[in-house]
Amino acid sequence: MEKEDIDAVVEINRENFTTDAWSRSAFEREFSLNYSHKYVIEVDGNVIGYFILWIIYDTATLMNFAIKKSYWGMGYGKKLLSFLVDNFKDKVSSISLDVRKSNIRAIRLYKSLGFKIINERPKYYSDGENAYQMILETLQKAYTGEH
Ligand SMILES: CC(C)(COP(=O)(O)OP(=O)(O)OC[C@H]1O[C@@H](n2cnc3c(N)ncnc32)[C@H](O)[C@@H]1OP(=O)(O)O)[C@@H](O)C(=O)NCCC(=O)NCCS
Repeated sequence: MEKEDIDAVVEINRENFTTDAWSRSAFEREFSLNYSHKYVIEVDGNVIGYFILWIIYDTATLMNFAIKKSYWGMGYGKKLLSFLVDNFKDKVSSISLDVRKSNIRAIRLYKSLGFKIINERPKYYSDGENAYQMILETLQKAYTGEH
């Protein structure tokens, strides 16, 4: 993700996360955080999705991830998330995220890549909905034997 992608990213974020949408300045702030890793996916030169991942020590947290609605169901979400896992699995011991309990589409996608639900956080979102905390424990952890 480059700074010139912010307009497209803000728009995709707004159409997908109404009440939970990030402000433009929140995306801009990510560029000053050395633990923030940001990627976009493009089709025909246009940004149609993005993710923001924080890596602090050996733990990765997926902070924000979305695909433009008109491109849903075409495999782009899986492609982008697979890239994330492949690119970062050797650098961290786990990748975690929070997802709305009702977000069946995202939960299925995460499960298909090996994420597991480890916790339910009551009233995590501003409208009172619970979150599932999901985690992917990477091979890095299995190889080192650290728990
Ligand atoms: C979740 C999201 C990223 C998925 O992106 P996508 O490009 O539509 O996903 P894909 O086409 O790659 O499909 C990947 C998987 O999602 C699931 N999925 C796709 N369409 C689905 C549907 N209609 N119903 C249920 N699950 C579905 C499937 O598990 C699918 O894998 P499969 O094709 O092997 O069965 C996208 O819907 C999105 O941006 N949602 C809003 C933002 C969001 O919820 N972000 C995550 C917050 S934690």
